[in-house]
Amino acid sequence: MKIIQITDTHLMPPGMVVNGVDPEKQLRAAVADIIEKHSDADLGVMTGDLCNFGDPEAYTLLKDILAPVPFEMRLLLGNHDDRRNFRAAFSDHPVDDQGFIQSALDTPYGRLLFLDSHEPRTIGGMYGKDRLGWLENALEGAGEQPVTVFIHHPPMDCGIAHFEHIGMHDGGRLMQRLTAHPAGVRHIVFGHIHVLLAGTTAEGIAFSSGQACAHRFITDLDAPAPLWTGGHPCYRIVTLSKRGFHAFSVDVGEVPTAQAVICAGP
Ligand SMILES: [Fe+2]
Repeated sequence: MKIIQITDTHLMPPGMVVNGVDPEKQLRAAVADIIEKHSDADLGVMTGDLCNFGDPEAYTLLKDILAPVPFEMRLLLGNHDDRRNFRAAFSDHPVDDQGFIQSALDTPYGRLLFLDSHEPRTIGGMYGKDRLGWLENALEGAGEQPVTVFIHHPPMDCGIAHFEHIGMHDGGRLMQRLTAHPAGVRHIVFGHIHVLLAGTTAEGIAFSSGQACAHRFITDLDAPAPLWTGGHPCYRIVTLSKRGFHAFSVDVGEVPTAQAVICAGP
């Protein structure tokens, strides 16, 4: 199963720049590359911060950019989004019975969970009783299937100083509940941190982030106020198969410098 992950697109009304980067230009280039090379994907997931200020015009622009994508897209909210404006623009998108942008999808390789950690006027993530009930049912429904989780905010400490106070404000409850799923968590996929990260929790659960498609940080683990930079439009190819979970990062527009030889082995 092939899934395309795009994250932190931070769309603005057309022509506006955020931290020196034109988010519309970035996303249009990423989507064009995805359509050209991965129209066989089974699913696309955008892991939040779809729009920079959550305004209706930016969600309309997002809808326009995604219109030619030939596979289903599941969209998650980040701290920059606005749930009401998102739902107005994407009225057909799956939501839970409380109106949170949460859903599940069963695949031959386990259940995919799409979680909503957005809380208005809060930069960090929230995942409280208002949405844990839905998760409880979704995990029970998964039964003996492992789950793969998609969420905007990393539900564990990401180890970067800038995010020390804007991580998941839940005292570790979401991770505790996921860790208790008897069939296991295959991977936790997130955005929010605007750099690539891969790791495992103390309990051994694997996680990784996608690189932001819009502005990103020059990686600095210690600076409370790190520097923004631009970069290639980007996305990840995530595969779920009998071999497990794999995620491959793609930068759009790289300039080739040479061609590799064929390596026949050994
Ligand atoms: Fe972001």
